[in-house]
Amino acid sequence: MIEPKAQSPLRARTTIHFLTLLILGLGFQGSGAETVWLDSLDLSNLRQGWGRPQVNRAIRETPLTIAGKVFARGVGTHATSTLWVQLDGGTERFTANVGVDDAAAGPGTVIFRVLADGRRVFDSGVMKTGTPPKAVNLDLRGRKLLLLQVLDAGDGIAFDHANWADARFEVTGVKPKTVPVPTEEAVILTPRPGPAPRINGPKVYGCRPGNPFLYRIPTQGERPITFSAKGLPKSLNLDANTGIIAGQAPLRGEYEVTLRAKNRHGTATRTLRIIAGDTLALTPPMGWNHWYAHYDRITDTMMREAADIMISSGMADVGYQYVNVDDCWMMAPKHNDPLRVGRLRDAQGVLLPNKYFPDMKLLADYIHSKGLKAGIYISPGPLTCAGFAGSWQHEALDAKTFADWGYDFLKYDWCSYSRVADGREPGADQVPNWAQGERRLEVYTHPYKLMGDLLKQQPRDIVYNLCQYGMANVWEWGEAVGAHCWRTAGDLGFELDRIFEVALKNAEHRAWSRPGAWNDPDYIQIGWIGNARGGGLPQPCPLTPNEQYSYMSLWALMAAPIFYSGDMTKLDDFTLNVLCNPEVIEVNQDPLGQCGAVSILNDQTFVMVKDLEDGSKAAGLFNRGEFPAEAALPWPVAGLTGPAKVRDLWRQQDLGVSSGPYRATLPRHGVVLLRLTPVRAAK
Ligand code: GLA
Repeated sequence: MIEPKAQSPLRARTTIHFLTLLILGLGFQGSGAETVWLDSLDLSNLRQGWGRPQVNRAIRETPLTIAGKVFARGVGTHATSTLWVQLDGGTERFTANVGVDDAAAGPGTVIFRVLADGRRVFDSGVMKTGTPPKAVNLDLRGRKLLLLQVLDAGDGIAFDHANWADARFEVTGVKPKTVPVPTEEAVILTPRPGPAPRINGPKVYGCRPGNPFLYRIPTQGERPITFSAKGLPKSLNLDANTGIIAGQAPLRGEYEVTLRAKNRHGTATRTLRIIAGDTLALTPPMGWNHWYAHYDRITDTMMREAADIMISSGMADVGYQYVNVDDCWMMAPKHNDPLRVGRLRDAQGVLLPNKYFPDMKLLADYIHSKGLKAGIYISPGPLTCAGFAGSWQHEALDAKTFADWGYDFLKYDWCSYSRVADGREPGADQVPNWAQGERRLEVYTHPYKLMGDLLKQQPRDIVYNLCQYGMANVWEWGEAVGAHCWRTAGDLGFELDRIFEVALKNAEHRAWSRPGAWNDPDYIQIGWIGNARGGGLPQPCPLTPNEQYSYMSLWALMAAPIFYSGDMTKLDDFTLNVLCNPEVIEVNQDPLGQCGAVSILNDQTFVMVKDLEDGSKAAGLFNRGEFPAEAALPWPVAGLTGPAKVRDLWRQQDLGVSSGPYRATLPRHGVVLLRLTPVRAAK
């Protein structure tokens, strides 16, 4: 009989391992994988277009319900929404049921998308309110990074209440965890300006004959600089040391002025066409507005400081000009700060500023003393959006008061006007849904035309900015009521995640963009800004460096008013670099006043091209996708028929002559901004 061989120790161990694996394997088949619910993860990393992420309920805090089916668990969010989840290979599977929540008060349309390590692994297609839930069931073995996205399906985010219902990970290794939006290093692309003078600013400037005139020649370069001008109308004076032109706007006509700036490093010249006529804001207005930094904390001292910094930071040297107070400078009937509460008007009906604004005229004088311009804000309704005094039934007096005080810009914000529109008395309980366009156009235009006519009668150039969030297609009639720019949408502070979408929407109104008439997609919110949702103290903005470059590039290409609305006391080098590249600003200030046209638009990339006065083109290649993407600009798309000099505007670098196409790999949310100048083909 042959005795069975004794097992070698090695063999014995192998058998045990095999058995262990078998047992573990069987265990996994049964219940070995752990379930990690999406709703149990840290949702502070979830970015969404409206409201706050909800655990086990929909965005309106109602049970998660898709087409009548109620789910006990899941995450309620709102398009557009992104959540990055680090898996590090530990997750086997992700499952969920997705759809639009039934509690949305109107028709929502969204697309749910899942990307794993940059590859699209789920796309729901367009889902509407009432579309039955769609099942997500993804094998994620070996995947490292997951992106859960809800897109707005191209029609804006209204009612886009989106549910990741029953959403869970089956995990066998490292647990999934949410991570912040990936960001990149903030690289300053633009070379510092040299010491020799460089004159910036618009090439054309509008004023009304006989009105006070004030223009500080935006000039970079080491001070002292000596300024001079040829062809300056007699009614104007140039201060040779400050470069401030002041006096009275000349008689109706066009004046070609050659500006000259000289310092020990060199001399610069530039032609400025002054057009005395009916139209102001011949190029998009540029400046600073306090809203997104300081909300109802604004004071006279902060306004003066902003004016000082506009000069000391160099912003004024590239064309920033207006220093604008927004809401909350006046008195309110009620407010948590007693120094802002009091009688709204004096015995004569003149508006009373609150205790933080000792003298509105002196404030404007101070701003003017720097060669800058002053802007003010009010509403056509009884109260402003923040509940401060409005102009209702005092319009003529207010227009006169603003002119007497010396303001150069008025933002007129609809706010409570719905309550009195169409002859209603304030407090009427039924507030119509104006956004639905249920009333005739006249109701919308009436308050704006009233103030527009009054402003024209003032012996002062006052740029007129409508703020009514795009109702009744304001771009179609803004110019006719005397406005120079109009907000085309709601507050961008609530939609910073949607810069690209907001811009693409704004650019749809490009036909109405021209000198003296600008579509306004709201302010530039980079650097330190307060959180629009809570009105909080300024903190670093949530936008990545590439998003900031894209933001500014889009505003430049769209000929949008450029108002910085961050904390001026916290400007850093990167923010200033984004705000102050004169070649980018020149695209914005181009005298043709064209808003760029969008083309080659796909899910990830698009191109925006703008014609410039000198025959060259400005072109931006953008990536709004979440991963790097290739983009190309063929010359015919830019309207070019032959070779062109290519210049990278952010880097201020010539890239040579090319016949196109220009190709680039764009980082997540990044841009390349070019100027293409046609050259004659070599014979
Ligand atoms: C509205 C406007 C903002 C700002 C606030 C002030 O929301 O759209 O730009 O002016 O009012 O209350």
